[in-house]
Amino acid sequence: MDWSLRQLIEARRADQYRLHEQYLNTSLARVQGIIGFNKIYTRGEGAYLWDTEGTRYLDLLAGFSVFNFGRAHPAIKKAIQELIELDRPNLIKMDCPLLAGLLAEDLAKRMPAGLDAVFFANSGADAVDTALKFARAATRRTRVVYLEHAFHGLTLGTLGINGGEDFRKGFEPLLPGTDAVPMDDLAALEKQLRAGDVAAFIVEPIQGKGVYIPANDYLPEAQRLCRKYGTLFICDEVQVGMGRTGRFLCSEHWGLEPDIVTLSKSLGGGYVPVSATITRRKTHDAIFSRLEKCQVHSTTFGQNELAMAAGLASLHVLDEEHLVERSAAMGEKMLKGLAALQERYEMIADVRGKGLMIGMEFQPARTLALRAAWTAAEAAQKGLFAQFVVMALMRDHHILTQVAGPDVNIIKFLPPLIIGEEEVAMIVSAMDQVMAEATEVRGRVWAQSVELVKHALSR
Ligand SMILES: Cc1ncc(COP(=O)(O)O)c(C=O)c1O
Repeated sequence: MDWSLRQLIEARRADQYRLHEQYLNTSLARVQGIIGFNKIYTRGEGAYLWDTEGTRYLDLLAGFSVFNFGRAHPAIKKAIQELIELDRPNLIKMDCPLLAGLLAEDLAKRMPAGLDAVFFANSGADAVDTALKFARAATRRTRVVYLEHAFHGLTLGTLGINGGEDFRKGFEPLLPGTDAVPMDDLAALEKQLRAGDVAAFIVEPIQGKGVYIPANDYLPEAQRLCRKYGTLFICDEVQVGMGRTGRFLCSEHWGLEPDIVTLSKSLGGGYVPVSATITRRKTHDAIFSRLEKCQVHSTTFGQNELAMAAGLASLHVLDEEHLVERSAAMGEKMLKGLAALQERYEMIADVRGKGLMIGMEFQPARTLALRAAWTAAEAAQKGLFAQFVVMALMRDHHILTQVAGPDVNIIKFLPPLIIGEEEVAMIVSAMDQVMAEATEVRGRVWAQSVELVKHALSR
């Protein structure tokens, strides 16, 4: 009998959460149940998902920014189908594949002047690890400085430059010679750089965990200090690149000229894992310095044709549909709509973002009963109020969002860049209704969260 993926999916659909509890991440599978995210999705298209009952969900997680072009984009899908049809010889290894060359050429055109040497890998952490190796080889220095609250991946290498205790704890010792500095503190950065042994200073131009945006002069000044002390300046654009913040690279907001840029996520068009580390030829050649060292850094699937085809099609779609401009325009509307809510709801402490990367931060209300409810939730687990909001958006409005990091009362909106005015209106109206309910201590936002508090207390 012919094996059919379609039949397998249909026959086993109902087992998906049980299979994860049994064979994969049991805790994660249980959390989905507790917060009401344990849906069985059957289809994804554009900015929406559909479950078995045909209910439609607006996806503001976008796979953590993997789906900037929306799901099942016809042009990207077609490129992948075409590639499979062509039976191209993939991963020969001892050749120089065309599609990798074409994608590198396209990316180089979009970079600041001089950044035209590309290394392809499979994930964001891979790209960051590569950037650190380039920096060490090019400067012959070892130390790396990073920002508090930073997130650059969870491999053992990138954990050493992770600014969150929750992620690091239990995995030490991590990469030696790394030091964190607070964002916006140029004196602290200069103190580190002055030692003359820092290979790289790495930043996310806007931090993903918390949507923290630096003061306007911070990154340009940090770049100047890096130049002064011979340290390479790395912009990790894995989440904020590819048009997410209304520019192709987020670092363009400040006219930065980093020495190394990392990209991933949407570069694979939502279909294929891929990442790129882009630097100057001189820096790149510091690793591949001699002919016999031409493979000293590599990864098996690095230039695979599926990823390269998805990358080429994705960049084409980005231009064709003017998605960078769209991200800027829709982001501005969404930010304005959400900021107007801040004036009406005292529990909204801040709304911030650029393009379609927007964070909303919460604070306790002044009303006695609400403040007591907040304190009880915080005592059970920090950041629980933001989780209540995420749950309410899902339950009542079928909108997927996320808390912006461990222990913070911030939610993050990362919609696909294809959203329009209709989706912006939906988001603002849903947030309006959730906040209105949250000002009622006997309302559903607080009441239906009892289960979550119980779970947090039982940890
Ligand atoms: C800025 C940044 N760098 C690196 C990574 C790691 O990417 P990956 O999960 O693909 O390893 C992430 C993931 O969210 C990220 O946001």
